[in-house]
Amino acid sequence: MLEKTVLLLALVTQVLTLENGLLRTPPMGWLAWERFRCNIDCDHDPKNCISERLFMEMADRLAQDGWRDLGYVYINIDDCWIGGRDAKGHLQPDPKRFPHGIAFLADYAHSLGLKLGIYEDLGKMTCMGYPGTTLDKVELDAETFAEWKIDMLKLDGCFSTAKERAHGYPKMSAALNATGRPIAFACSWPAYEGGLPPKVNYTLIANICNLWRNYDDIQDSWKSVLSILDWFVKHQDILQPAAGPGHWNDPDMLLIGNFGLSFEESRAQMALWTVLAAPLFMSTDLRTISPQNIDILQNPLVIKINQDPLGIQGRRIFKSKSQIEVFRRPLSNGASALVFFSRRTDIPYRFHSSLLELNFPESKEYEGQNVFTGDVIRGLKSETNFTVIINPSGVVMWYLYPVRTQE
Ligand SMILES: *[C@@H]1O[C@H](CO)[C@@H](O)[C@H](O)[C@H]1NC(C)=O
Ligand SMILES: *[C@@H]1O[C@H](CO)[C@@H](O)[C@H](O)[C@H]1NC(C)=O
Repeated sequence: MLEKTVLLLALVTQVLTLENGLLRTPPMGWLAWERFRCNIDCDHDPKNCISERLFMEMADRLAQDGWRDLGYVYINIDDCWIGGRDAKGHLQPDPKRFPHGIAFLADYAHSLGLKLGIYEDLGKMTCMGYPGTTLDKVELDAETFAEWKIDMLKLDGCFSTAKERAHGYPKMSAALNATGRPIAFACSWPAYEGGLPPKVNYTLIANICNLWRNYDDIQDSWKSVLSILDWFVKHQDILQPAAGPGHWNDPDMLLIGNFGLSFEESRAQMALWTVLAAPLFMSTDLRTISPQNIDILQNPLVIKINQDPLGIQGRRIFKSKSQIEVFRRPLSNGASALVFFSRRTDIPYRFHSSLLELNFPESKEYEGQNVFTGDVIRGLKSETNFTVIINPSGVVMWYLYPVRTQE
């Protein structure tokens, strides 16, 4: 009887979510926008302008510097690639900046074991003023992307009305499906409706999108990271159940390697995005990134936690007057990730707690690892009092699993 119920539930869940089989774990890769924006000045800044050179050089780094093998496989174009439409209405890349075309870039990415993502906007224009996908162009553009062998589409929502979005996003989802090519679909729809019910129906969103932006664009500052985190935590009762295998909330790109975050803040963003089961899209210059930042982004245990097959988004489970917060993400095989996060701005803080206080089941024993230091945790009983020392704007992250006790 129990088995039957489980089977039925599994069927129901399948019917309710996008069935392209993609992104069973949060996508990982590189997205141009936060770091490179709409720099189109290739005459003066050929290394950093939005051009095929930039994407090929980042693809080379992803393939050669260990990123791809850890799961960072998407290389995603954002706004400012479009040159116009040809006589038949087909999208064309800017001929000067993408002289070999997008199909060439896709082949290049595929030859390196990577996947290519592209950007469009459901409206008259993209956010930066390039030709958009109006409702009558949705099918044509989906076919063009499939012909080019694109693997992911981010569909933005600038210059569109709520009504156009309500038609356009489901229409694009169906059009991508009709091409027969598996193309992951990243929707900005919720972000344009304020991210919350009743305007946003997350059941519907999960039906048509593999991931979606809920809230504001990230900017290169800690303040921006905190504002996004605050919003996600405030609305976690709504957002947390919306995520799962094949359908993810997206708090936006990782800033690690850029200019706005300290070392502690960089680790904190990595840890917090990981417990939120967020997509891990880097947006930094992989040609010049420091070894210290590579260590944060390539931490194998963090990646394993982010990619946990259960795909359960974590929650903030504890908040103290001393500006310490604790987040927990349940993982497969009874394991958990815990993030102890300090919003303090003074000195390292000694936080005292126990797993029992954090609502772990009674009389179990845990072991695991401090994710960033590698220190082994052993013999931790639920009632054991422990102390973690958390740096200002920093985190301590634990991976814990119950010890099998002999019965
Ligand atoms: C299209 O949708 C059907 C059913 O919803 C699914 O089985 C199929 O895999 C999808 N195809 C693509 C290419 O997304
Ligand atoms: C949300 O969308 C789902 C799927 O389309 C639908 O079944 C449900 O009725 C919608 N909920 C609301 C409150 O409109």
